[in-house]
Amino acid sequence: MSPITGRTKICGIIGDPIEHSMSPAMHNAAFSALGLDYTYLPFRVRREELPGAIAGVRALNIVGLNVTIPHKVAVMPLLDRLEPLAEKMGAVNTIVNEDGVLTGSNTDAPGFLQALRSQNIEPEGKKIVILGAGGAAKGIAFILAEAGASLVILNRTISKAEELAAQMARYYHQDLKAMTLSEENLTSALDRADVLVNATSVGMVPDVDRTPVPSRLLNPKLAVCDIVYNPLETRLLREAKAAGARTIDGLDMLVWQGALAFKQWTGREAPFAIMKQAAVKALKNED
Ligand code: ATR
Repeated sequence: MSPITGRTKICGIIGDPIEHSMSPAMHNAAFSALGLDYTYLPFRVRREELPGAIAGVRALNIVGLNVTIPHKVAVMPLLDRLEPLAEKMGAVNTIVNEDGVLTGSNTDAPGFLQALRSQNIEPEGKKIVILGAGGAAKGIAFILAEAGASLVILNRTISKAEELAAQMARYYHQDLKAMTLSEENLTSALDRADVLVNATSVGMVPDVDRTPVPSRLLNPKLAVCDIVYNPLETRLLREAKAAGARTIDGLDMLVWQGALAFKQWTGREAPFAIMKQAAVKALKNED
């Protein structure tokens, strides 16, 4: 890492807990690779300290900030401006500080889109099956609908899938369906689907032997994405590969999210491969 100087620009991440974040490793590796005089620090900020932390961003002239759980929604009214997508999705994960004017944006969902596009998958007109209806699924559903995909959202709790589909129908007019996550519904939803996204936590450590989709439903025409990145190759991704499907792992989405924030803060294209390598290393150190 390059030495800190009087001119070093400071970026960071606020959340609670924060010690498992891979973002410091990822961004510092990227700053270093491009020889930028920036540094990136983790800040554990408790819920009640959030207004103080944002006042601190202004007072200390922190130039860029990532925001993670539990602050992604609560931070919104503390900012000066919001990018339209962040407003629509109701969550901010990135802040840019330009001379004390704080703008909030969301690079989580665009990061997912970028991960798809990096594999030459363009969602427009595609049939995409999303498993889950929590925070992560919501961002993914919005960005894919925005990009013109038709969606089937399957969730264990049907009411949450229906609520998400109804919320999206206010903005988007393509096919948006909600179903219970069952084998029967999966079978019909995956018939002629182009992309499958697991946005549930099924398959995450310690439940690495679980998968949300029986392997017989996977086929070579599918691209399969998993938001779970620990393990990096989930059972779902392993079985998708074996079925001849293309796969996108959860770390790709996380690194693209970081890469888009990096560009906002530095104006430079992020070195994706270096960031991914740093994230993989940080993940291994966690185990
Ligand atoms: P996140 O913000 O990461 O999306 P979340 O809001 O807690 O986290 O959402 C977790 C998602 O994983 C939900 O869609 C949840 O389904 P429910 O809405 O029915 O709870 C899904 N999920 C978690 N464990 C699951 C399991 N064992 N089987 C199926 N779905 C599961």
